[in-house]
Amino acid sequence: MTDAEEQPAAKGLTQVLEEVGVSTPPLTRREFLYYLWGSSMAVFLAGAGGVSIWFALPRFREGEFGGTFIVPIEEIPAPDSPPKEFAEGRFWVVNIGEKTINDPLQPKDYELDPGIRVLFKVCVHLGCLYKWVSVNDRFECPCHGSKYLKSNARIGGPANRNLDQFLVEVLDAAGNVLVQTEATWQGNREGATLPIPAGSVALRIDTGQRMKGAPNTKPGGGTAATGSR
Ligand code: FES
Repeated sequence: MTDAEEQPAAKGLTQVLEEVGVSTPPLTRREFLYYLWGSSMAVFLAGAGGVSIWFALPRFREGEFGGTFIVPIEEIPAPDSPPKEFAEGRFWVVNIGEKTINDPLQPKDYELDPGIRVLFKVCVHLGCLYKWVSVNDRFECPCHGSKYLKSNARIGGPANRNLDQFLVEVLDAAGNVLVQTEATWQGNREGATLPIPAGSVALRIDTGQRMKGAPNTKPGGGTAATGSR
């Protein structure tokens, strides 16, 4: 006798149950629809739960572009001194002082307060990386020549808005938020420059939250019919 003859053929569950006397009545239409609905709900709930967890998890780690960066106060440039670049976060930290506020090139459409701003380092025209040019005391884009003041104001070139900014919080030693950037711009104020209150130890910069620069299309910068240069 061959092995094939010795081995009984595999039987289906229904066949085995019939042989031992257990009958399996067919599903009714109602039962079938009930099971179909139940399995659909299970799949839906599993999917919804997975999506919720996915959105609840932090998408970026601290120190990774798209997440938050901590910058100690000691690393912030002095008022009116050249901006400081943070390449890994793709931003510049600028400290706006009286000289910057009173710069005659600052379009008067965009009022300034003294304090900190954090600028996204990508040109708002077509996405090149602009540079700080010390001799001209301004940012310049090597691709098509857009020019921006330290404040973020566009003063020339094909870009049609001011530089974008990231939202910032100023923290004390316990991690409390002392002051934070306004997330919107109203009238001629884009967010707010952040003062550095007593007791500040660091900035927390959220590179996942970008505030779009205000429209700015006039030659020399500005949007209003009067009052700009
Ligand atoms: S990309 Fe900067 S001016 Fe065009």
